[in-house]
Amino acid sequence: MPGAKKVHVRTFGCQMNVYDSERMAESLKAYGYSETDSAEEADLIILNTCHIREKAAEKVYSELGRLRQLKEERRQDGHQTQVAVTGCVAQAEGAEIVARAPVVDIVVGPQSYHRIPELLFRAAAESRALVETSFPEEDKFNQLPRRARAPTASAFLTVQEGCDKFCTFCVVPYTRGMEYSRPVAALVEEAVALVQSGVAEITLLGQNVNGYHGEGENGGAASLAALIRRLVQIEGLERLRYTTSHPRDMSDDLIEAHATEKKLMPYLHLPFQAGSDRVLAAMNRKHTAAEYIDLVARIRKARPDIALSTDIIVGFPGETEAEFAATLAVVEEVGFAQAYSFKYSARPGTPAAKIDAQVPEPVKTERLHRLQALLDTQQTRFNTSCVGRTFPVLFERSGRREGQLIGRSPYLQPVHAFAAAELLGRIVSVEILGAGPNSLSGVIQAV
Ligand code: SAH
Ligand code: SF4
Ligand code: F3S
Repeated sequence: MPGAKKVHVRTFGCQMNVYDSERMAESLKAYGYSETDSAEEADLIILNTCHIREKAAEKVYSELGRLRQLKEERRQDGHQTQVAVTGCVAQAEGAEIVARAPVVDIVVGPQSYHRIPELLFRAAAESRALVETSFPEEDKFNQLPRRARAPTASAFLTVQEGCDKFCTFCVVPYTRGMEYSRPVAALVEEAVALVQSGVAEITLLGQNVNGYHGEGENGGAASLAALIRRLVQIEGLERLRYTTSHPRDMSDDLIEAHATEKKLMPYLHLPFQAGSDRVLAAMNRKHTAAEYIDLVARIRKARPDIALSTDIIVGFPGETEAEFAATLAVVEEVGFAQAYSFKYSARPGTPAAKIDAQVPEPVKTERLHRLQALLDTQQTRFNTSCVGRTFPVLFERSGRREGQLIGRSPYLQPVHAFAAAELLGRIVSVEILGAGPNSLSGVIQAV
């Protein structure tokens, strides 16, 4: 019976988890589940988890503590509740999760989401917890139902999964497995379905998205640039973005696409992690600071107005004050419109966690503050430089104030403007009048 049961999905971690959560909720529709924002009324609660840093993984256990109480309260009211843990903690910890939190009914790794309905059924029938963390032969994307709806005018599309780079600090190669690229034909089909349901912008996702090498429509391997050149032909698709890229895979044809493809937005997330070549080598990033800076120059030559974003880690094992200063120097030299920065977090099973010279927590905290102060200054400077300009803004959702819409500039900044609700999902010219640290505001030009 459609809609008879309710599922509540909580998503942690990266955009790939956001995408997977949407696909899971969609696939459960066929089994009678409709989505709910409230855990209290849910028959099934899915925690789609992230293992990237210790704090992210610990959040899951505190959440499971709360769910134990909720499940008991619902039981007393005569309702069954199933709890599923999916995502990267599921893959990394598997049966340990059930041992630590018996409230959990199923644990499912990121490659097995198509098996969730069957696992839920079996767990209930057999009254025991089930754990599925193998890397199955079949492609989960082929097994999941077609995309149904698009929640907003901007959608994610996972084109590549997994990672073979093995940066020494990172769990992703272990939780998501080896690199796999989806075929171009399947992606075109999914993109067309998204556009037909009202999507104007697609962000192509992959842990190493620019390492994409999927099967082309006429056989052979297609690069990310080739995929982009194919997708821009879809009528009604106005904007394309992609994330996350590795500097090593930023090929000349992809850089060239930024010069030639108007639908490709002038924004690039390109993590550099650290500014010291010794630290970069210890991280196994396979590039130097100078190579990164040279790459940025080549990208800017192709697309001079491109806004750059990055990820940075402070306090990698053995990082000295001078090595940290090299990170600040790269930030100064490049100038970022936006950035994410993190304290190094030792992850079980990764090579860096075994290095003796771990940096003390207070030192990491102090470095992170200094780095973030610099990044904040750059972000504010970039936003302020936009005042007085007119941007095409894709409106995606209503704002908190009556009559206000929020959209994105080409440079991914949120833009607030008073606008009629029918402009949702449309690209409209907005003159930027104000800039804050995290967003812009402006007025609509003639529609
Ligand atoms: N594939 C992307 C990043 C995926 S993880 C890339 O290669 O750039 C997102 C970010 O989390 C990373 O860029 C890194 O900055 C950060 N990160 C990953 N592992 C971490 C760890 N152990 N401690 C702190 N930050 C980490
Ligand atoms: Fe992790 Fe490195 Fe792969 Fe990015 S490239 S997902 S940081 S191992
Ligand atoms: Fe986290 Fe897994 Fe994404 S560890 S960042 S959810 S790939």
